[in-house]
Amino acid sequence: MVALPELPTPALVLSLEVLERNLATMSAARPGSRLRPHVKAHKCLGIARRQVEAGHHSFTCATPLEVVGMARAGVGSDLLLANETVDSHRLAAMAAAERESGITVTVAVDSTVTVDLAAAAGLRHVLIDVNVGLPRCGCAPEEARSLAERAQAAGLTVRGVMGYEGHLMTVPEEDKPRKVKACMSSLVEAFDSLVDVTGEECRIISAGGTGTYHVFDNDDPVLGRINEVQAGSYALMDSSYGAQPLPFEQALYVVGTAVSTTSRDSGSWAVIDVGLKSLGMDHGNPYIDEATVWFCSDEHTTFSMNDGSLPAIGERVAVRPAHIDPTIALHADIHVVPRWGEEVTEVWPVELRHW
Ligand SMILES: Cc1ncc(COP(=O)(O)O)c(C=O)c1O
Repeated sequence: MVALPELPTPALVLSLEVLERNLATMSAARPGSRLRPHVKAHKCLGIARRQVEAGHHSFTCATPLEVVGMARAGVGSDLLLANETVDSHRLAAMAAAERESGITVTVAVDSTVTVDLAAAAGLRHVLIDVNVGLPRCGCAPEEARSLAERAQAAGLTVRGVMGYEGHLMTVPEEDKPRKVKACMSSLVEAFDSLVDVTGEECRIISAGGTGTYHVFDNDDPVLGRINEVQAGSYALMDSSYGAQPLPFEQALYVVGTAVSTTSRDSGSWAVIDVGLKSLGMDHGNPYIDEATVWFCSDEHTTFSMNDGSLPAIGERVAVRPAHIDPTIALHADIHVVPRWGEEVTEVWPVELRHW
């Protein structure tokens, strides 16, 4: 798949053709505002711009820097920080980015503290973040209305609710709709409890990710109420999502170089210069086609080819990361090839790294 003899490694390499195919598949399933692509999965304005070309104008962000970077670059028209921050400087930076760009900025809130800080920073829009089962951020569904009232009293517009069912992204397909529906019932109830607080501007029920985007069946009385899905990984993919029956292909690899090989009667192995410092490892070992990964260390991955062969020293090896989001965050640039097997034609910076 990769020749790229001049490329210093480890390096991210993206197939534009596969990226475009993934974007088209998703935008056919969830066109326009029915998808709020998550920027954290690529942190790259070049990819966000292509998501705009695919018809999406509202985006999900995980960090204030992603919000400010998208607003300053004029990408999208509606940015959501789907995350809590209590850093007054960063909240003020997002408010300033909204004023300067004219792009709507909305932040998630799940406590009186986050509501009051958003108002004090000069932000204008919030979503009430509701805990739907993942032990992370989000208020209890029954607290959503009082938070909305507090936000309204502080001069903030409550645009709706969000709830992230991250614990269900990789459950078996046959259980997914039922389990997601149980979570979404509480999100929809929370929305119904507060919808009259702000009135017409309160419309958003935001949830979901790459592992669940397909269960929000329009005809279902609960799942059909989710009017935007926050999927991000679908654009580039990783080996965790690749193991699921999803219609997206691996669009990005971490390319390494074979730096050492060992051949013994008891077994042979090869070592490439891709390791813990260039791979997000929280979902386990990366994947190499037709090989078995033994382990990763700081700067290396040790593996054996399933047919007993060895790569030549200096040969390029493509590694599929197990988790795309933290992998991207470790790199400064994405090297773009039009198609697998072709030369790098563009380098896209990962502009939205850090916080
Ligand atoms: C708030 C939120 N929404 C949505 C997602 C979905 O992302 P993915 O497409 O990777 O499943 C995530 C991922 O962690 C998230 O944190």
